[in-house]
Amino acid sequence: MLATPETSDTVNPAFRDDVLRGLAEPIPSISARWLYDRRGSELFDEITRLPSYYPTRTETALLTAVMPEIAAKLPPGLAVVEFGAGSATKTPLLLQAIRPAAYVPIDISGDYLRDSADVIDESFAGLQVLPVEADFTRDLTLPAAIADRPKLGFFPGSTIGNFVPRSATDLLRHFRALLGTGARLLIGMDRIKPVERLIAAYDDPQGVTAAFNLNLIERINRELHGTIPPDAFVHEARWNDMLGRIEMHLVAVRDVEFTVEGRAFAFFKGSSIHTENSHKYGQRGSRLLLLAGGWTPVAEWSDPAGDFALILAEAQRNRFAP
Ligand code: AVJ
Repeated sequence: MLATPETSDTVNPAFRDDVLRGLAEPIPSISARWLYDRRGSELFDEITRLPSYYPTRTETALLTAVMPEIAAKLPPGLAVVEFGAGSATKTPLLLQAIRPAAYVPIDISGDYLRDSADVIDESFAGLQVLPVEADFTRDLTLPAAIADRPKLGFFPGSTIGNFVPRSATDLLRHFRALLGTGARLLIGMDRIKPVERLIAAYDDPQGVTAAFNLNLIERINRELHGTIPPDAFVHEARWNDMLGRIEMHLVAVRDVEFTVEGRAFAFFKGSSIHTENSHKYGQRGSRLLLLAGGWTPVAEWSDPAGDFALILAEAQRNRFAP
């Protein structure tokens, strides 16, 4: 039997549809989820260790510092439901401090999910680890074993910032429906700060973020038979002040024509493909976002510089005016 070739001809239909639709739009864009193939995930990992990329390091230090306080606010016998497979450093910090009865990581990538769940399983004796392979933005069913436990949703990393406020609100409401009235949510949100620091975090001098963004072009060329000249686009990080977000773009440095899956596209010099949003929230904005999503903020912590916030919120029974 022949070995499966490295460059398989089976095209991911969701990737294909997103790219073909996105490139043809009046404001060309491609969903940020496609940045995270194997290479993209490695590059993101490298980003989290860059001096100018403050969020990961700041959130981890903050979690370490305030975990005893957070733990004191939570009931015993908790089930922790993490949206995303969990980071190797932040998740153990949480589990160590609050000693929940069950841990339910939810991730779309089965392999990654199983690997990280195994590591947690081995380091926390007596913890029930129940991984769920699913897209956490869609409908899913939680394991029956945690039905009667109090629940804490965990959504660190400022991942909420990837969603435009309308989608972020939908997502928070979806979390609420999934976890139920009475549940808690511990969420990390990146704060608004001087634009120079934001740009440095998303356009580092080492060029790692540029490589992360440009990897999308290589992925399109490899997986969707693309002919995009890699030197025709450059990485750009822009602060959109009206919308309170950092945007990543791939900007054409000259007029360029190419095909993807046989479809022809043309970009003028200076035009761009929008590849990621990273929304930043002030104190009031972050609280309003949570409230609009059905979560009442009950406590908030931030680092001394005010760069990053952890917010604990509750899914309280609906109480309308007054
Ligand atoms: C993983 C979405 C939180 O927005 O800061 C980092 C992704 N992109 N550098 C972020 C990212 C470029 C990151 N999130």
